[in-house]
Amino acid sequence: MYRLPDLKKNTRINAIAVMTSGGDSPGMNPAIRSVTRAALNQGIRVFGINRGYSGLIIGDFTELKSGDVSNIVQRGGTILKSDRCEAFKDPAVRHQAGEILKEHHIGGLIVIGGDGSLTGAHLLTHETGIPVIGLPGTIDNDIYGTEDTIGFDTALNTALEAIDKIRDTAISHERIFLVEVMGRNSGHIASQVGVACGAEMIIVPEIDFKLEALCFSLASQRAEGHGSSGIIVVAEGPRPGLTYRLANQLEAQGEKPGVCILGHIQRGGRPTGHDRVLASCLGAASVTYLLAGFTDVMIGMIDSKITATPLLDIMEKRKPLNPQLVELAQLLHK
Ligand code: ADP
Ligand code: F6P
Repeated sequence: MYRLPDLKKNTRINAIAVMTSGGDSPGMNPAIRSVTRAALNQGIRVFGINRGYSGLIIGDFTELKSGDVSNIVQRGGTILKSDRCEAFKDPAVRHQAGEILKEHHIGGLIVIGGDGSLTGAHLLTHETGIPVIGLPGTIDNDIYGTEDTIGFDTALNTALEAIDKIRDTAISHERIFLVEVMGRNSGHIASQVGVACGAEMIIVPEIDFKLEALCFSLASQRAEGHGSSGIIVVAEGPRPGLTYRLANQLEAQGEKPGVCILGHIQRGGRPTGHDRVLASCLGAASVTYLLAGFTDVMIGMIDSKITATPLLDIMEKRKPLNPQLVELAQLLHK
């Protein structure tokens, strides 16, 4: 059971702002709805900042009323739009952003985004004194301080639906398919998708792998009578083209692998029930923490409890990948 925080209000905030930043994720809309309505219910005005930090630094704000967040709980993407804003890495630009928030009498900001966006959030509150609370919004699930990020569960299920279909073709044609999922620096999506789709093998940036071992494993599976078809789930990794490079090398060893890059379909779509509940709980809790005087923290969920983790920890610590999932996939498909 999710338990919402029971904290006393001890600030005099009259208006807050909310924004989405970095790669969009399914569940950002229910989070915006929850932040907006939780604040409005306390008599606090809410401003939506359009296009993340790009909108913040030019004062592109829209006041949100309850009706503005109607019928968005089920929608993917973000009604506030999202962006990547290189200029925000400049301290002078962040100073200007602080001045703009003060001019609008905004007493607190809620930033929904991935680790980059949360880094910007930490620097903004640290340098300007404006209270800022972060929410983990990314499909990658690579954020310390929360078991799940908003959007991860939907991305996992989107990838699974696609892979189940690819599996049909792999079986019909007795072929191996390499399926690439998102995750530049982390294999959280790949490891969970891999176990859930019954992958023969999972390749993630956190764990070294040897192509020879992969070929040997495929050959011995065939010799044992299993594995005329198969799915290998590959996290995209830091250098583009990994999956095609792997396919070329497997071809050189006599395999005929198919390649499917799932790409941005993983970022879209209706949020799952899990993501909607998570986003709604964390959104409302972020307002509670802000009004109780907290700043410079991210609100996450650990063991079904809502927790506040310093943004500095989010920047400095990595959520470890569970290597057992990678091993489990290999064990279970035999
Ligand atoms: P995500 O939030 O999904 O991890 P990015 O890493 O692209 O996505 O970051 C989103 C935005 O957050 C960047 O475009 C930039 O505006 C801001 N940001 C990222 N890193 C920093 C940083 N070191 N300092 C200030 N702002 C940053
Ligand atoms: O937001 C994170 C992420 O989905 C990564 O998994 C992926 O590498 C990246 O965004 C791709 O983003 P874009 O194509 O928008 O730059």
